[in-house]
Amino acid sequence: MTRAVVAGVGAYLPRTRVSNDALAEKVDTSDDWIRSRTGIGARHIAAADESCAMMATEAARLALAQAGATAAEVDGVIVATATPDQAFPATATRVQAGLGMTRGFGFDVSAACSGFIYALSVADAMIRAGQARTLLVIGAEVFSRLMNWQDRTTCVLFGDGAGAVLLRAQNGTDGRGILSTHLHADGTLGDLLYVDGAVGQPERSGTLVMNGREIFRHAVVKLAETVEEALAAHGLDPSAVDWLVPHQANLRIIEAMGKRLSLPAERVVVTVDRHANTSAASIPLALAEAVNDGRIKPGDLVVMEALGGGLTWGSALVRM
Ligand code: ACO
Repeated sequence: MTRAVVAGVGAYLPRTRVSNDALAEKVDTSDDWIRSRTGIGARHIAAADESCAMMATEAARLALAQAGATAAEVDGVIVATATPDQAFPATATRVQAGLGMTRGFGFDVSAACSGFIYALSVADAMIRAGQARTLLVIGAEVFSRLMNWQDRTTCVLFGDGAGAVLLRAQNGTDGRGILSTHLHADGTLGDLLYVDGAVGQPERSGTLVMNGREIFRHAVVKLAETVEEALAAHGLDPSAVDWLVPHQANLRIIEAMGKRLSLPAERVVVTVDRHANTSAASIPLALAEAVNDGRIKPGDLVVMEALGGGLTWGSALVRM
């Protein structure tokens, strides 16, 4: 059976780190409020030269290097982002250019904070179908450019960054690879989290609007359901899971999911304290960190889950 195996991971964080205390000098908030409600202590904010495409390209370079692969081998680039630098061309094609690629395909996936799970699902299906053998899947976001910096209820929650994985088709029997992905959306809940504006609505502000309480309520229920369905699809008990690599929105949601899986805290990868919520970039950033520091090892069973604007949500079960 052909499976998509994670052959390399990479990450890019903007040079500028902004602590809660630094933010509290500009916004009516405090380190104590942000930390106690969300677990966030700091975030990275992109400078003018740190575009979505630039960060995605740097993360991709590292994923290629870790896999010992060259850009010439890559059949396609899929970028999950809600904050592309331009309406088109797709960020993925800008990444291709950055890597010197003149062949293969490139496109973006828009599913807000669930974008990486959606992109992983598409890539997995393409590899299983034999349409591609080597794919770069990237989550990259500059949410700082979507913020209303006068709105303390949202601007303290988000950060910028990019993470990438290189997937390779493998016809092995060692059980490694993406075991399954599970995608959901409920469009009737779209007004709980959205951006007020786009190219076709120039009169709107174009900043993020969120009903935090309602999102929190949906996240706890829907994420638990999608993790349970991922395990049930393989007849697995939560005790089979080695690592939870969740979307990093709020430490309280992350801890609730860890408890659902009966995982000790040290088996749950947390970056929200240092990165805040980087939307589609948060899972690959967390994955890259835990692979690179040696926590996640080949053969480990990893559950990923995310929920975001749409609402969209989903999970992925991956044997590393
Ligand atoms: N600093 C200080 N006070 C604040 C701040 C702030 N940054 N923000 C809000 N407050 C105040 C409010 O004005 C309110 O004051 P009031 O009671 O006098 O009116 C009080 O704090 C409580 O506000 P709530 O919104 O009720 O705070 P809550 O405890 O619900 O926490 C939060 C808000 C952190 C946003 C929480 O609801 C949450 O995490 N929700 C989930 C959000 C999420 O996960 N979003 C991302 C998922 S999708 C994606 O990733 C895009």
